[in-house]
Amino acid sequence: MADENVTTEVKAGEGPPPANGEAAAPAPAEAKGDAGDKPPTGYVPAPLPAVASGEGKRKRKKKDVEIAIRLTKVTKRFGPKTAVDQISLKIRAGSVYGLIGPNGAGKTTTFSMLAGFLKPTEGTIEVLGYEPTQVDELRSRIGVLPQDALLPSSDRVGEFLRHMAALQDIPRDRIEDEAREVLAEVDGKDWWNLRCGQLSHGMAKRVQLAQALLGDPEIVLLDEPTAGLDPRVAYEVRQLIKSRRGRCTLVVSSHNLQELEEICDAACILDRGRVVASGSIQELTAASEEIHVKLGPGPVPIALVRELPMVKRVEYDDEKRDLCVYFDRGTVDAETVIGHVLWVLLQNQARISGVTKGRGLEQRVMELT
Ligand SMILES: Nc1ncnc2c1ncn2[C@@H]1O[C@H](COP(=O)(O)OP(=O)(O)O)[C@@H](O)[C@H]1O
Ligand SMILES: [Mg+2]
Repeated sequence: MADENVTTEVKAGEGPPPANGEAAAPAPAEAKGDAGDKPPTGYVPAPLPAVASGEGKRKRKKKDVEIAIRLTKVTKRFGPKTAVDQISLKIRAGSVYGLIGPNGAGKTTTFSMLAGFLKPTEGTIEVLGYEPTQVDELRSRIGVLPQDALLPSSDRVGEFLRHMAALQDIPRDRIEDEAREVLAEVDGKDWWNLRCGQLSHGMAKRVQLAQALLGDPEIVLLDEPTAGLDPRVAYEVRQLIKSRRGRCTLVVSSHNLQELEEICDAACILDRGRVVASGSIQELTAASEEIHVKLGPGPVPIALVRELPMVKRVEYDDEKRDLCVYFDRGTVDAETVIGHVLWVLLQNQARISGVTKGRGLEQRVMELT
C-alpha cells in the first residue's frame, strides 16, 4: 500500500477544535455479563482515563493514515486455547470492513484487541498508527459496540449517553447536543427519557450503536450490530452503517453474510482463529472461475454451451435451473464468457432469468470454513 504515517501536529489552541472530529465512545457501557452460560468473549471495560475537562484539548499527535488498522501476525491465547492465530490484516481508512466467520472463529477476540481491551499474546496491532493501548493518542477516536453489551437498566437513555459523552473528551457545552444527535441518528429521539431497562432488544441495540457513534469517531467497531434484530431494524442499521462509509472506518462482524456482502467494501473470513480468505467483496465472491445463468422455462442447450472454446466445464442443476459455466480466468474474463454464453443461449430460445459472476459470499464461506 502507499505511503502513510505522515505526521501532523495538532497544537493546543490552534484554531477551533473540530466540531465532531475528536471524540468517541471508549468503552462498553458495562462489562459483559461476567458469569454466564456462554464462554467469556474477552470484553472488559476499557481503562477510562480520568480526564479533567480541558485536558483533552492538550497537544496530541495525530497521524494521517491510509491504512486505519493493521494487524501483523496477531495471536491471542487464553491458556491452552488459541482464539486468534497469526492474523494479518490491513483495513483501509474510510472503508467498511467485514469480519466473517462461524461462532468461535475469533471475531470478538479480534475486536477486543482492536479496542485495546485485550493485549495480543504475539504480533502487533496498529490503530490509526498507534498501539491500541496508547489510550492518550487514541482516546475518543474509536467507538465500540461490543457484542451483547448491557445498558445500565435504571439509567435514562439521555443520562446514559451524556455520561458516555462526558467520559470522552466531548466539551461540556456539546455533550447534550452530541448525545441527542446520535440518538436521532439511530431513530430514537423520543427515547431520551426512557429508562434503559424499558427498551426492547432492538431499541437497546440502537442506543448502544448511538453510544458507539458519539463524537464522530474515526474508527467504529461493531461486533454483530444486527444480531437478533428484526429485519426492518436490521435494515435501518445497515443503512446507517452505509451512510457512514467514507466518514470513518467501520469494522463490522456479522453472521448474516448477505448483509456483509451488501454493506462491506472488503472483508476477511475467519475460521478457528485463522484468516482463510481476505480481500475486496468482489475478490472474495468472484474468486472462483465460474458464472451462473438462471434459466426460465424453455430449452436448455447445454451441449452448445460446452462447445464454446473458452468453456472448461458446464454443470446444470435441473431443479434450480442453474447453469454453471467454468472457465480459465487466466485466458478470459467473466464478462467475455457471459457474453458468449448468453449469445448461444438466446440463439437457441433459452429464456434467461438471471446471471451472476462467481459465487455469493455465503457459498464462499461455506467452502472455506
Ligand atoms: N476469555 C476467554 N477465555 C478462554 N477462551 C476464550 C475467551 N474468549 C474467547 N475464548 C475462546 O476463543 C474462541 C474465539 O472466541 P470469540 O472471539 O468470542 O469468537 P467469535 O466472536 O468469532 O464467536 C472461542 O473458542 C472462545 O471460546
Ligand atoms: Mg463474537
